[in-house]
Amino acid sequence: MILGVGTDLANIDRIAGTLERFGDRFRNRVFTEIEQAKAERRLDTVGTYAKRWAAKEACSKALGTGLRMGISWKDMAVSNLRTGQPIMHVTGWAAQRLQEMTPEGHEAIIHVTLTDDHPWAQAFVVIEARPIAAMPG
Ligand SMILES: CC(C)(COP(=O)(O)OP(=O)(O)OC[C@H]1O[C@@H](n2cnc3c(N)ncnc32)[C@H](O)[C@@H]1OP(=O)(O)O)[C@@H](O)C(=O)NCCC(=O)NCCS
Repeated sequence: MILGVGTDLANIDRIAGTLERFGDRFRNRVFTEIEQAKAERRLDTVGTYAKRWAAKEACSKALGTGLRMGISWKDMAVSNLRTGQPIMHVTGWAAQRLQEMTPEGHEAIIHVTLTDDHPWAQAFVVIEARPIAAMPG
């Protein structure tokens, strides 16, 4: 069953402006080390940050919270499988919220997909609950 969906469109030029203005303060507040490492070693550094920004916004919508004051952005983090497919990890408040919205006997799976085409970066997040197979005996 689907527990939540979220989407976001981020303006890459706006993210570029924020990076220029706030530098490491913005980077370290919003992005994990894995996210920063991926963005900084790419030619399209800003586009990579913008996709991950969109993913965090989309995830907060799928979690039903939106981005409230005081929440940690780094508790919603994107990494990539070897195939390039993005995956979303949640920790802290986001993991707690995910647990609260997951019905008993189910596990939650977060699906995320990203794309960008300057000046836009887009993310969709779908949260699925799958029944956990009953233990035999
Ligand atoms: C996946 C692919 C279609 C992306 O197309 P694109 O036009 O270059 O880029 P888009 O902006 O639309 O999408 C990029 C995002 O797609 C996602 N993506 C990449 N590979 C993916 C895959 N195998 N499955 C699902 N999503 C994937 C990533 O999130 C990526 O953004 P990120 O690297 O910043 O996380 C293209 O890279 C492709 O065909 N790759 C397959 C071949 C390949 O390069 N494999 C290398 C690893 S074996």
